[in-house]
Amino acid sequence: MARRSKRFIELAKRPINRDSFVHEWPEVGLIVIDSPYDPKPSLRIERGKVVEMDGIPREKWDMIDRFIADHALNLEVAPEAMSTPSETIARMLVDINVPRGEIVRLVSGCTAAKLVDIVRQMNVLEMMMALGKMRVRRTPANQAHVTNRKEHPALLAADAAEAALRGFAENETTVGVARYAPLNALSILVGSQVGRGGVLTQCAVEEAVNLRLGFKGLTTYAETLSVYGTEGAFIDGDDTPWSKAFLASAYASRGVKIRFTSGTGSEALMGHSEGRSMLYLEARCLLVTKGAGSQGVQNGSISCVALPESLPGGVRVILAENLLAAMLNLEVASGNDALASHSDIRKTAKLMCQFIPGTDFVHSGYSSVPRYDNMFGGGCFDATEFDDYNVIQRDMQIDTGLHPVREEEVLAIREKAARAIQAVFEGLGFPPITEEEVQAAITAFDSRDMPDRDMAQDIATADEFLAGERTVLDVIRALDERGFGDVAERLLEMTRQRVLGDYLQPSAIFDEHFHVLSAINDPNDYRGPGTGYRLEGERWRRVQDIPQALPPESYLEGQGEHPSKLLSEIGPAKKGSGPEVIVAVGPAFGRELDQTINGIPHDEVLKQILTGIAEEGLSARIVKVYHTADCAFIGYTGAQLSGSGVAIGIQSRGTTVIHRADLAPLNNLELFSQSPNLTPESFRQIGRNAARYAKGEKVQPVPVKVDNWVRLRLIVKTMLLHRRELEQVDPDKPPTELKFDWEPDV
Ligand code: 5AD
Ligand code: CA
Repeated sequence: MARRSKRFIELAKRPINRDSFVHEWPEVGLIVIDSPYDPKPSLRIERGKVVEMDGIPREKWDMIDRFIADHALNLEVAPEAMSTPSETIARMLVDINVPRGEIVRLVSGCTAAKLVDIVRQMNVLEMMMALGKMRVRRTPANQAHVTNRKEHPALLAADAAEAALRGFAENETTVGVARYAPLNALSILVGSQVGRGGVLTQCAVEEAVNLRLGFKGLTTYAETLSVYGTEGAFIDGDDTPWSKAFLASAYASRGVKIRFTSGTGSEALMGHSEGRSMLYLEARCLLVTKGAGSQGVQNGSISCVALPESLPGGVRVILAENLLAAMLNLEVASGNDALASHSDIRKTAKLMCQFIPGTDFVHSGYSSVPRYDNMFGGGCFDATEFDDYNVIQRDMQIDTGLHPVREEEVLAIREKAARAIQAVFEGLGFPPITEEEVQAAITAFDSRDMPDRDMAQDIATADEFLAGERTVLDVIRALDERGFGDVAERLLEMTRQRVLGDYLQPSAIFDEHFHVLSAINDPNDYRGPGTGYRLEGERWRRVQDIPQALPPESYLEGQGEHPSKLLSEIGPAKKGSGPEVIVAVGPAFGRELDQTINGIPHDEVLKQILTGIAEEGLSARIVKVYHTADCAFIGYTGAQLSGSGVAIGIQSRGTTVIHRADLAPLNNLELFSQSPNLTPESFRQIGRNAARYAKGEKVQPVPVKVDNWVRLRLIVKTMLLHRRELEQVDPDKPPTELKFDWEPDV
């Protein structure tokens, strides 16, 4: 292209244009919904057995069809469900008069194609409304990712503690080096319990090791039981629906909470889409999850998220899969974990699909560490964005389980966690964690701030710990013997809760008193305005308490403390004659307010203006206007009194106008509306220009700095200064002439 638009050149550099976008290609599974090869909903039941499902007779079923038909469908409801028009069910989803339970009942009889046929009727707004009603737990929560590239135990413990303090109900770690798993699981277990008792933890690793970590009491939930929507993908993963169901039971038998993982895009990515749309395959995954007896699912594309997002409608379909899971009465940890876009705008827009309705876990892994240390392949949101996140919660009065914290409390909790894991390492005879490592972990930004450890020695220790007999009970003893009795107690309580098993109930989390919140005692009861979870009371106060928010008084600090000693009132202002400039000031000027918004003392403002006027050889009078605080009218009033007809009007915060008697009040010669951008030099030039207007000379407008951000930075201060000026307004008091006890030196 010979000719280029500079705007297109700039657009091409935007982060969004580093994302991948592709046209649909259904044959290879590059389509998010409505593939021409997707089956149509159907179900035939003969003598209590399904003989045909979604157009395929039993003889032609693959193992997933069989598992779904035999374990996931409620055949008592199925005839009613399948014969209810999909549009009717879609409308029930957004109808606040239809309770959640009624939809859950009906959906239990739907096939995969039917599930898709319901949500395909809905737009994003309707899906969000439906998700708000259909999510399982009333109280939304969040899950964190806690990892680092050095697999540093003190940093892991400190980060897990901070994540717990910030409100995460679940902390997930993983490994860069597989053999570190037991140490990483141990570090975040101890750290999390330091941060807040009752935070659940997991370590995502290969399933046999994962199970062993659970059996040793080093983890309290497991989530990476992956399922897929085609046989080919399942077999690639060395699994079947039955093996997953068995694995789930193994965890649950030891009191480990389980959640399956699935999500659009995995089958296409593995080359096993069979030409089906991503959402249809995900519907099958969800039915497998349900059939296997899992209480919940981590879905929303998860690690595959960039693939559906490369296609049209991808973000809508990711929301649709979260909604489908909730409709199936599954707890949902709704993605927003893996890096999905280069664009902050795009990633935030996508997040809103889950953030606004609320899900059981809005992120199935918010990176509570900086991106560099995220061993899940980078997080879509990370530790550097906590302030943004807390502000958005505050803006929308939405609770996704997080809340602002203070630096001092974070430092204290990190120190305690690092010292607790140090004590555990010592008690178990592991390679010591030094004082230097503890100190680094307290204040670190990321693992580059941490000393290196002897990794070979750590790995040997990890191997031995995993293979040996020692369990969480030995960890508890080590803590108790080394002055961490309170942490030991929390770990023991977590262990006791595994025996009680209440947190194996659907969608269970613990509050800080180890009380279970689940579908049983905290069911989502949303039925429209005024119902369901509302962020209010103590919790709302906590969410809104960002440290950046200041008490309003602080914006006026210093104002009015040093009233002008040079200014005094003479008496009613008279109309002048001859070449003069009137300087008209607002009602609080020099007294209740004594400096401009950017701290220029009012005396200094007057000195500069009077100097400027004198430099042009004119005299000036100062008039205080009482009947208005409006800059234009202050200037206009001054102009009416001016012998030359020219006046400068100044509000106390510094907003300034040059006015002339023959102009309409809201017209002017020059307006300086951005008071924070005015310097002493600008006031001097304003004085000079006003004098030149008065002499009838040609005038170059005063150049001023333009900074559009000042409005954002100073809007609260502006408002409060204006309010104080308004307090001094007296509609009946005429303008008063002021004496300024100072002479310009020109
Ligand atoms: N489908 C199934 N499993 C997934 N995982 C991530 N995304 C998906 C998906 N879309 C699994 C990975 C890993 C963990 C992070 O979750 O295989 O075990
Ligand atoms: Ca997760």
